[in-house]
Amino acid sequence: MVSPVATSDSAQTDPVARVAQLRELIEHHDRLYYELDEPTIPDADYDALLRELQALEAAHPELVTADTPTARVAGEPLVTFAPVEHAIAMMSLDKAFEFEELDAWMGRLARRMENDAAPGPFVCELKFDGLAISVRYEDGTLVQAATRGNGRVGEDVTGNVATIADVPRELKGAPPVLEVRGEIYMPISAFEELNAAQEAAGQNRYANPRNTAAGSLRQKDPTVTASRQLTWWAYQLGQVEGGPAFERHSETLEFLASLGFPVNPEVRTVPDHAGVIEYVNAAETSRHDHDYETDGVVVKVDDLALQSHLGSTTHHPRWAIAFKFPPEERTTLLRDISVSIGGKGKATPFAVLEPVFVGGSTVQMATLHNEDQVALKDVRPGDTVIVRKAGDVIPEVLGPVLSERPEGLEPWVFPETCPCHFSYPITRDEGDAAHYCLNPVCPFQLAGWIEHYAARNAMDIEGFGERRVREFLDLGLIADIADLYSIDFDRLAEVEGYGEVSVRNLAAAIDASRSMPLANLLVGLNIRHLGDAGSEVLASAFGHLDRILDATVEDLAAVDGIGPTTAEAVHAFFANGENRAIVERLREAGVNFEGPEAPDVPQTLAGMAVVVTGGVPGYSRDDVTAAIKARGGTSPGSVSKKTAVVVVGENAGASKLTKAVDLAIPRIGPQDFDALLETGEIPDSAVTGPVED
Ligand code: IVH
Repeated sequence: MVSPVATSDSAQTDPVARVAQLRELIEHHDRLYYELDEPTIPDADYDALLRELQALEAAHPELVTADTPTARVAGEPLVTFAPVEHAIAMMSLDKAFEFEELDAWMGRLARRMENDAAPGPFVCELKFDGLAISVRYEDGTLVQAATRGNGRVGEDVTGNVATIADVPRELKGAPPVLEVRGEIYMPISAFEELNAAQEAAGQNRYANPRNTAAGSLRQKDPTVTASRQLTWWAYQLGQVEGGPAFERHSETLEFLASLGFPVNPEVRTVPDHAGVIEYVNAAETSRHDHDYETDGVVVKVDDLALQSHLGSTTHHPRWAIAFKFPPEERTTLLRDISVSIGGKGKATPFAVLEPVFVGGSTVQMATLHNEDQVALKDVRPGDTVIVRKAGDVIPEVLGPVLSERPEGLEPWVFPETCPCHFSYPITRDEGDAAHYCLNPVCPFQLAGWIEHYAARNAMDIEGFGERRVREFLDLGLIADIADLYSIDFDRLAEVEGYGEVSVRNLAAAIDASRSMPLANLLVGLNIRHLGDAGSEVLASAFGHLDRILDATVEDLAAVDGIGPTTAEAVHAFFANGENRAIVERLREAGVNFEGPEAPDVPQTLAGMAVVVTGGVPGYSRDDVTAAIKARGGTSPGSVSKKTAVVVVGENAGASKLTKAVDLAIPRIGPQDFDALLETGEIPDSAVTGPVED
């Protein structure tokens, strides 16, 4: 994996290139975080990217663009819920990572004060790591709940929020209009319970409480949300009409508590700078004593008149700041460096650590990515190493504590053979960062392959994750992917943890996988270098697996979208006797080998990215995508600078539209869709300019 903050050689010296690279990285991670709830880098790394970009933009103002990620409130709303325009924008908070930055913030406040008054007192609150929500009451009745989205427009999640027990549906003594803002989260205990249930059902664990809470809130079916034990802390008023007049933020919190909203008991009003620092230190020390995750402290000016005097910048209120806890680092013993063999035989070194509690969980393994990374970090088995983990996913070994290195500790060398009992040679090709075990019957590789075959983007066999695959292998029920279709399910009856229903569901899922499209089967075959897109292309170009089996490297490479390396790999895969035998057994098991017919329609949209949001009359969602693809176009799930046109259909979501407006991408209505397909030209009726605010 490329380090999330990696610079290419040119970017290192060229600010223009680095700025472009940073923007791309930030947008990529925004999407993973806000739209897919699947962040792949710790918050601290993301913040580092944003700060580097800010610094470069400050040094090179000529590089600042209107759509730079530093100039907007991050987070696109999702498309699946109705848009809600916030009466008062849900701003994000400015962040401080060091005490000096907190001091600087206080200095700025002091300079804006009249008559040299002191900016205190301050309200200190924990910064909860969940999802911001705005809940609106009219005449004491809950009428709407919306996510933050991009700060101006969020998503309507009323039905789901209404299932949360701690969100009152009716209020007594509330003003005619009351908007309460707060943070929805999943208690750590509930998260662990949910994961225990996942494991018992043979399903993969959820990554962390924040993403799980986000996913739970974005369910189409509110009964799923209701089952997830979500709760929240109320921390801020939104729009209020009528009702009591408040002078202090602390009073508003007391008011919210009196109405029955959960207000966090750790809130404190402190007189001055020293009080803030004391609170922050105490909060960091006790951050793991709660049943919820915190990633910092929010400091707010208590005096509401002063808050309005201070006002806001375009994206942050000046009267508040979030002090973010540093990612936690601990030292521990590097017991060993082992190598794991993945589905395509990729051999990845990883650190075997003396277990250490860091960043909210116990870490005992961490990937070291590849041989070069191990050398670069110079970590050796026997070293004391620094392990870092921010509140979320990936723990990282930063490097050795050289002062504690025992004398004579040798550098680690990549093992020459696979750790499985075949001891097959592990090799590294020139120009490739990774090592591979190319033994087709490697048991480690097989487990990875079977898991991969069952994955959603391949044969989509639900309930067949890592744990079950290993169990089935251990029980001798399967030895490769073709065995899936002849499992003796009766044998499972005696195995603990396999109820009648789950066995029946699994059998049905395996059965259903027989009729998956050819492209999915190709993905499931786990051919090196062949990903989802390549599989699609091959399936539609050849139309049948047998034609792919018979194809030469040249035939394969002649397909648009298949490079020479992939063509070689596909050919080599099918030339291998073991793989051929598996393919034949899949055929006997009745697995579908046929693909879609090669398209016989003019390629009017060749190379065009057409994003569709909302419904197009006369077409199902799949039909829309198929119609675009059949004409050589692509239909990406999100709008970017490369989008040629956005079709704004019925009940379109706000996110794609907002992005299209921001980037000035032409937009057409559903009535023009057929004309677009036919001609590939964007009709004159398209709207391009930004919508007036
Ligand atoms: S107040 C204008 N208080 O932090 C101020 N926010 O970057 C509105 N958050 O979107 C926010 N704990 O999701 C506030 N005690 C707290 C908070 C908090 C967590 C989150 C919230 C917000 C983000 C701001």
